[in-house]
Amino acid sequence: MCGIIAFTGSLDVIPILLEGLRRLEYRGYDSAGIATVDEAGIHVRRRSGRIAALTSALDDEPLAGNCGISHTRWATHGPATERNAHPHVDEAGDFAVVHNGVIENYLQLRQQLEDDGIIFRSDTDTEVLPHLIARFWSGDLVAAVTRATEVVRGTYGLAVVSRHAPGTIVGARLGSPLVIGIGPHGHSIASDAGALANHAEKVVYLADRQVCRIDANGWSVSTRGAAAVDCATHDLRQLVDVGDADLGGFPHHMLKEIYEQPEALTNAMRGRLDDADATARFGGLNLDPRQLRGVERIIMTACGTSYHAGLVGEYLFEELARIPVEVEYASELRYRNPPVDRNTITLAITQSGETADTLAALRESKRMGHTTLAICNAVGSSIAREADGGVYLHAGTEVGVASTKAFTSQVCVLAMLAIYFGRTRHLSVSQGERLIAELRALPDAVHAALRCHEVVKQVAQRYSHVRNVLYLGRQFLYPVALEGALKLKEISYIHAEGYPAAEMKHGPIALVDEETPSVFLVPRGQVFDKVMSNMQEIKARRGPVIAIASPDDREVAKVADDVIPIPDVPEWLQPIVAAIPLQLLAYEISLLRGCDVDKPRNLAKSVTVE
Ligand code: AGP
Repeated sequence: MCGIIAFTGSLDVIPILLEGLRRLEYRGYDSAGIATVDEAGIHVRRRSGRIAALTSALDDEPLAGNCGISHTRWATHGPATERNAHPHVDEAGDFAVVHNGVIENYLQLRQQLEDDGIIFRSDTDTEVLPHLIARFWSGDLVAAVTRATEVVRGTYGLAVVSRHAPGTIVGARLGSPLVIGIGPHGHSIASDAGALANHAEKVVYLADRQVCRIDANGWSVSTRGAAAVDCATHDLRQLVDVGDADLGGFPHHMLKEIYEQPEALTNAMRGRLDDADATARFGGLNLDPRQLRGVERIIMTACGTSYHAGLVGEYLFEELARIPVEVEYASELRYRNPPVDRNTITLAITQSGETADTLAALRESKRMGHTTLAICNAVGSSIAREADGGVYLHAGTEVGVASTKAFTSQVCVLAMLAIYFGRTRHLSVSQGERLIAELRALPDAVHAALRCHEVVKQVAQRYSHVRNVLYLGRQFLYPVALEGALKLKEISYIHAEGYPAAEMKHGPIALVDEETPSVFLVPRGQVFDKVMSNMQEIKARRGPVIAIASPDDREVAKVADDVIPIPDVPEWLQPIVAAIPLQLLAYEISLLRGCDVDKPRNLAKSVTVE
């Protein structure tokens, strides 16, 4: 999942590319590079590390011009070194390419090219592209790029410049997102619309196998270079909230997004709670009443944090809608061969809408004949556009690699969907009314939960040095235990595992010692006594216990070493409130350990490769 942005027009291209790269850095930040093209040829600057390293390289050796391509990398093939940084060029330096995706047959292609005497200068799969384009060059850049893409297997979102055609940029897409930006001072190509926010007014989404050509005066799209195709243009301001990307006074995007959750939840519910019919309403599900009532099974599929939201959704749908649910890792579902059932819906859950595994699982479900829905944050993203229907989170841009407001918004949307399905089945009007009232109170409860931050800071001080942590919960809170463990792992690099609290005695309790704290999700509820017993089992083995508990719970305070209070809410909504202290705990421990909270090592925000 790399980030690409290219521009050609009447403006100085360097500031545009650098700003676009900053907006794309969430997609990967192992290295960055820029290539400009003019009558004198192609000029390249590349650096390993963050975009700041590239910026200082440009300070030392400035580039100028009106046409260029640029790239921020998440390494898939070849270490994160300068020699592997994009752009990559052919031997003669006539063509430069930036690429997001994986060329699966690159070794075979590289061997063929080396047999023909081509000298490779990197370890990347991408480098085969400029050499192939040079080989197929016969005066038309679109044709050369098209032919090169026809011999590669895998995925690509790419942009190409040539010294033979200064001012022209060619893009091509298969499996990795690519958009065209249309603006008053020029045109651009980028991995997502967010990178275009400061110079484009309209956006065109490329489809798979489409090739585009842009220059200062216009743009065109063809399918593999054949007949030109008409493409819909979208108003950029409808898709990207430019204001989201800055920090708004917070030290990190992640903390800003944690504190945005009351507002994000309000936005997720806005216009969707129907008091008159005591249900929820959605504009884009595209399910007719017969389909709605005919649903007999739901397969939820996602990755990472979104998968954890799906696990909460399983409890919600079974409790409120009485519909059987299976939650599958998208990377597994896409290769399984589950029985086809016309009355099954596949529901993809995704923040970015571009996760390759989730997109592939969605496409496989469609191929098998299932109706597909998506819960997505990024408007106009691939998954949002390819699902038969869906629901947007309206959570605003989520920049921090560790997902926070998207998770709680996903759970909120799943709760509303469960009510919606439930009210077409057995949920009574009065039950619907109660559930909706409880949802309406949720943003205030989350706002109250954020008051635990000072307590969390003290707890973080005591445990920032540990090497292993266990997260334990039951029922609706078991998935939140998994999510809390993931948050800690991905931004503090501490090993953490989530388990159903009762599962500890079946093996994992062997891990417990004085150096291994256990975080228990133990607010008052139907399984409170059971979880208290599990806490006692840990204490009996001298394991430190951190309890996420109801306010002033003296019974918990007698057992736990540390207590982080959260407001009491109905059990079906506890996952959203209980996630807040776990997000804050991971954040504070990450800070104490000197980790990069917003761009943790080895990760990227949107995983658009398998
Ligand atoms: C979340 O904290 C992680 N960064 C990661 O697991 C993420 O949830 C996963 O990659 C799925 O992303 P998506 O929601 O954009 O599909």
